[in-house]
Amino acid sequence: MIPEEKVREVAERISIVDVVSEYVPLRRAGGNFLGLCPFHAEKTPSFNVNPAREIFHCFGCGAGGNAFSFIMKMEGLSFPEAVKHLARKSGIEIEERQLTPAERKVQDEYSQFLRINELTASYYRAILLNGREGAPARDYLAVRSVKPDISEAFRLGFAPDRRDGLVKHLKNNGVKLETALKLGIIRKSDAGWYDLLRNRLIFPIRDARGQVIAFAGRVLDASLPKYINSPESPLYHKSSVLFGLDMALPSIRTTAAVIIVEGYFDHLALYQSGVQNVVATCGTALTSSHTGLIKRHAERVYTLFDSDSAGKKATIRSMELFLEQRIPAYVIALPDGDDPDSFLATHATEEFTTLRDKARPAFEYFVRTLLTETHPDSVDNKVRIIDDIVPRFRKIADSVERDLYEKEICRLLGITVHAFRKRMGGGKLTPQDTPLNYTKRAENDTIQETLLALLLYYPDARSEIVRSGLETFFTDGYLDLARLVVHRLAGSDETRSLGRLTEITENAEQRTILSRIMVADDSMANIEWRSVFEQCTRSSEKKQLASIKEIASRLATVDPNSDEYVLLLKQADALRTRKSKLEP
Ligand code: UTP
Ligand code: MN
Repeated sequence: MIPEEKVREVAERISIVDVVSEYVPLRRAGGNFLGLCPFHAEKTPSFNVNPAREIFHCFGCGAGGNAFSFIMKMEGLSFPEAVKHLARKSGIEIEERQLTPAERKVQDEYSQFLRINELTASYYRAILLNGREGAPARDYLAVRSVKPDISEAFRLGFAPDRRDGLVKHLKNNGVKLETALKLGIIRKSDAGWYDLLRNRLIFPIRDARGQVIAFAGRVLDASLPKYINSPESPLYHKSSVLFGLDMALPSIRTTAAVIIVEGYFDHLALYQSGVQNVVATCGTALTSSHTGLIKRHAERVYTLFDSDSAGKKATIRSMELFLEQRIPAYVIALPDGDDPDSFLATHATEEFTTLRDKARPAFEYFVRTLLTETHPDSVDNKVRIIDDIVPRFRKIADSVERDLYEKEICRLLGITVHAFRKRMGGGKLTPQDTPLNYTKRAENDTIQETLLALLLYYPDARSEIVRSGLETFFTDGYLDLARLVVHRLAGSDETRSLGRLTEITENAEQRTILSRIMVADDSMANIEWRSVFEQCTRSSEKKQLASIKEIASRLATVDPNSDEYVLLLKQADALRTRKSKLEP
């Protein structure tokens, strides 16, 4: 652990402009410095550094934070590692605080885990490369045309057909078997310790930093199960790991895109063909942790799943996640019966890149797939199709996109927009799902962000806002953020440490908001805060009045026994309470 004073000392010694300039050429633009964002591909600079507040923010991809977060993201370091990195550069010596015995135990165990996985990966690798035992695996890789440099890059290995080869290897290296047991790579029975993986080709699974966190083993023949993965462990949470991310990162950075496949071998085949911005899920469906990880590194995704019905289902399920998270998603469609590996075995890489360039937006792919399954040739069929579309359609977070798709759907189905909307209204709408709310949220942002800026820069405004209650001014994510800010700033008024504020939250969206506010031009500096504050309350009151009116008119058209009716009532109530609080 690095003591807090040391972190502050480092923060005070460095300048964010110097730190960033080592990676990104910057030029002055008003109070800020401007450059091309290193975290996504762009041609016109939207990456801002504000030296006064020691903060950066990219208006293109939303990345933001202080010098520490910049180094973390740039170098793939943890917070303490980034502090040490910058301390070294500025000649500050860091003596770490003594760990508590409990902390030491956790840290020791963690480095034990990593060491065990390293030993294990090297053991499997050595067996694959040398000696008689590895011969079947070497033959297998030859049959599947895996080249030696690729085998090396993936650190492929082979688990020999022995009961306790790994057990012995670990023991010989002084590993406590009970510790290795927690990683699931060895097991214990009445007859003694034994290996989890036997007679299998080994894919080590690594995290984004390249550390081995788990193993997958494939049989060399057609027996089942085809793969055995080492189980979830303190190092491995399969629903948040993307296989191959560490190898893919350089290429994801230059293309701003990532291709998601389902199989280890599909990943390998693409990588070997030179398509390297590719990751694979580890035998699970795509989750929101996966998409969060993707969002951090890429601007758009391509899904490339098998062309069978399971693959189609997975494509559509992943589309729903991407729509919700506003990640532009495209579907690369392979000829029927092909998976990426088999396609590349018989086609040139260029043929694959052509398919990639022809990839369809995921939603369009979904609608077209539906239409090939059910023909829109009768009213019944049209209704069935629309009912399949509607719940997904509602997940499209972007209003422009929704407009476009609405037109496209109606064209494909041969119905009027009016008919589509009528059918949309027929289902059970929830207030959060409806377009009404999306537009309202966007408008609210500026008011809430202005108020947040007041909280940050004007202690008197802060006290005033806190006195009236944060709930009066903020909703949803903004409310949480306002609470964090108030909590952090309570009793301290150092503007110098404003940059550090971005560290109060791990939540990417909240960090984006904070850095966006802080890097914004100095329009919030030296203002008469009270008049801005009053403008904010006035427009927020107007907004709420308008919402109440809109809700009232919606209530008139909704079945009073429905869930939606109840939800709308609650919403109207909440708005009235907030409004009455705003009134003097
Ligand atoms: P596939 O059967 O398509 O495997 O399963 P693959 O990796 O493409 O291998 P080849 O080309 O047939 O040799 C896709 C993914 O599903 C998970 C694995 O992550 C696999 O890569 N899976 C599959 C399992 O976890 N267990 C299994 O038994 C099968
Ligand atoms: Mn496959």
